[in-house]
Amino acid sequence: MNHADGQGLRESLARTLATAGHGELWTRAVAQVPRHVFVPHFFEQDAGQWTEITSESPGYLEAVYANRALTTQIKGEEPTSSSSEPGLMLTMLDALEAKPGHRVLEVGTGTGYNAALMSHALGDTNVTTVDVDPELTTDAERRLGEAGYRPVVRTGDGALGVQQRAPFNRIIATCAMQSIPPAWMRQAADGGVIVAPVGWGLARVTVDGGEATGRFLPSGAFFMARRAGRARPRFGELQDVKPITTDLDAPEALARLEFPLALALPGYRTCTWNGAGGEVTAVGIWTPDGSTATANVDGSVRQVGPRRLWDVVERLHEQFETKPEREDFGLTITPERQWAWWRNEETGWDLPAMHFAE
Ligand SMILES: C[S@@+](CC[C@H](N)C(=O)[O-])C[C@H]1O[C@@H](n2cnc3c(N)ncnc32)[C@H](O)[C@@H]1O
Repeated sequence: MNHADGQGLRESLARTLATAGHGELWTRAVAQVPRHVFVPHFFEQDAGQWTEITSESPGYLEAVYANRALTTQIKGEEPTSSSSEPGLMLTMLDALEAKPGHRVLEVGTGTGYNAALMSHALGDTNVTTVDVDPELTTDAERRLGEAGYRPVVRTGDGALGVQQRAPFNRIIATCAMQSIPPAWMRQAADGGVIVAPVGWGLARVTVDGGEATGRFLPSGAFFMARRAGRARPRFGELQDVKPITTDLDAPEALARLEFPLALALPGYRTCTWNGAGGEVTAVGIWTPDGSTATANVDGSVRQVGPRRLWDVVERLHEQFETKPEREDFGLTITPERQWAWWRNEETGWDLPAMHFAE
C-alpha cells in the first residue's frame, strides 16, 4: 500500500468534516495526510473478543477513512492507545486556534497521525509530541518520517511537558488529565492556549502571567486516561458497613450528574448490578484513592474509604436539578490553586494538584 492509496476516501472524509463546520486549515490536512500510514492495523471488539484488522482485511481502508476512533494498541485486554475520531481531533485543533509558526506541544503521540496533521498545517519544525510508551513513539517517529514529517518526538510522561522545546504557544493533550499539570503552565508562552481532556470534557484555557482560565467546549470527550496507578473498588468491605438512606433515583442521578461528578471526583468510575429481568438493582461508584459507595434502588447506601462519595452525589444533586451544559463549566489555574467551576469562578471544586519529580 502506498501513500496515494485511499486518496478518494481521504477527500471524502475531509469533505464530511468541512460540512460539519471544521476549519479549512485542518480539513485540508485531513485530505492530504495518509491516515493509513499511521494506522496500519487496528483492533475491533466483538462479543468481548478483540480481532486485529490489517491492511489485508476487507474494509480496512474504508474504516481508516471513516470518522471513527480506532483502537491501535491493547495490553492485556485493555486498550492502551488509539487513533481518536477525526471529527473530535478537529474539534480540538479548531479550539486550539493554532496558526502556522506557532510552537505546539502534543501530549499523547499515539499513532503520530495528529502530529502529522499539525506538522502538515503548521510546519514540522514547530511541533513537539510526547508519549509515555516507547514502542509507540518509535513507531510514530518512523511513520511520520515515511509520510515526510520530522517533528520532535519524545518519550516520557507528558505531564512534565518537554522543557527543552519550551516555550509553547499551544499545548494539546489527547489523553485524559485530572488537572492541568504545573509544568505546562511554566512551559506555555504568555497568551498561549491549552486544550486538554479534563474529567469528561475538553477544557480550553488561555495562559496569562502564570495564570490561566477558560471554559469547557460543548462537545464531550472520552479519552484514555493518562497512565497511572488506580485503586480497585472496595465492594467486599461494604457488607460490614451500616447503611444510610437516599431518596435519589440512583441510576438517574449518576447519569444526570456525570459531568460535574468527573470534576468533583476526578478519575471516578461507576458500575451497575442488574436483576434477572435486566433491570438495574444497584449502582457502584469508586475513585482512584479506593473510596467506594453503592446505592441500591431500595434507597440503601453504603460507603467506605477516605471520601464519602455518595455525600458528593447528594450535594451535586442539590445544585443540578437537570443535566447541566458542559460549556457552562470553566477551569481556572493560579500558582496556588486549580479549580473547575460552574457559571462563575466563585463556585467550584479544587482539582487534584499533579506533582511530579522533575
Ligand atoms: C488517544 S491516544 C493518542 C492519539 C494520538 N494523538 C494519535 O493521533 O494517534 C492517547 C495516548 O496517550 C498516551 N499517554 C497516556 N499517558 C500518557 C502520559 N502520561 N504521557 C504521555 N502520553 C500518555 C497513550 O500512550 C496513548 O498513546
